Amino acid sequence: MSLARIFEENPNRRYIMFGGKGGLGKTTFSAATAYYLAKKGHRVLVFSVDPQASLSDIFEQDIFGKGAVEIMENLYAQEIDADQHIKEYQEEIRQKIFDMYGLDEIPEEIESYIQAAAAEPAMEESAIFDQVVDIVVSAEYDYYIYDLVPLGHALYYLSMASVYDEWIDKITKLRQEMSEYSQVAAVIKREEETEEDMILKELLDIKYRINTSSGILTDSEKTAFFFVIIPEEMALLDTQKAAGLFAKYDVPLSGYVVNRVIPPDLAQKNIPDYLRNRLEMQEGYLDRIDRTFGNQVMARIPEFERDITGLPMIEKVAEAMFGRIS
Ligand SMILES: Nc1ncnc2c1ncn2[C@@H]1O[C@H](COP(=O)(O)OP(=O)(O)OP(=O)(O)O)[C@@H](O)[C@H]1O
Ligand SMILES: [Mg+2]
Repeated sequence: MSLARIFEENPNRRYIMFGGKGGLGKTTFSAATAYYLAKKGHRVLVFSVDPQASLSDIFEQDIFGKGAVEIMENLYAQEIDADQHIKEYQEEIRQKIFDMYGLDEIPEEIESYIQAAAAEPAMEESAIFDQVVDIVVSAEYDYYIYDLVPLGHALYYLSMASVYDEWIDKITKLRQEMSEYSQVAAVIKREEETEEDMILKELLDIKYRINTSSGILTDSEKTAFFFVIIPEEMALLDTQKAAGLFAKYDVPLSGYVVNRVIPPDLAQKNIPDYLRNRLEMQEGYLDRIDRTFGNQVMARIPEFERDITGLPMIEKVAEAMFGRIS
């Protein structure tokens, strides 16, 4: 099985993810896959929620917080600015309170609640998640490539439904607090029905979004999830563990891609012992990877002579992954 064939044979898998430990090549493969698919004529968005702005680095362009930026024909990249999104989120909540209760000013207690809620990690996560859902359900692109943060976090996104549960609790709590707030309570009484309607609508909307997004993530018809691995002891052990966890969340695995393989034919050349040793060790790890993951190993990508930044280097990686791009 080759990577190119996986894409050809499963044209409905339009949500692509590369997972794995930190620094193994997730962003590199995301960008290269986006490049390949764009060259094949598909409209592609590669996006991340990583505040480290690594897509900006690899495309050598500042795209952070700028929405979807066109990198080349058919290829768009986006880096979500979570802080900005939280601010918009807060403003939205304020607006809702204005609309619901017809107030001119947000009561101080409520305002400090809004501020406190925004400072919570769960709020940041749900703000990010919210924007990811917006992107993913927008249906503007043929392919969505989600440049994931390292494993632990990725798992967190997958269990995000629970974060939303918390959020729902918060709305309910906010509602209670509002009704305890005597001045507001009077207003609520008069507009009880409208309030109930709006909250119900909100909850149903959240439910729809949770179902849509977690549905996408665990739908092997729509999603291709690849693990990035390198031929080293630690990476191998961690990946095995992670694969087990992902299986628990029903993430459909499309295969493993081995990165940073020192070209084995170097052994034929006159090379220093140091490199010869590394090559021998690598041989052992590659064997183990093949034995462990079998025919799920999709490709071996060589160690390049320099970091992968800029389109010409991205193209080289894409060709190593998918074969010659005409
Ligand atoms: N095959 C390769 N040859 C040479 N350099 C590579 C290769 N693959 C990745 N790199 C370099 O390794 C570094 C890490 O790669 P990358 O940013 O893609 O990893 P990541 O998994 O996205 O990391 P993070 O977990 O921090 O998001 C980058 O500098 C990248 O250019
Ligand atoms: Mg990355």
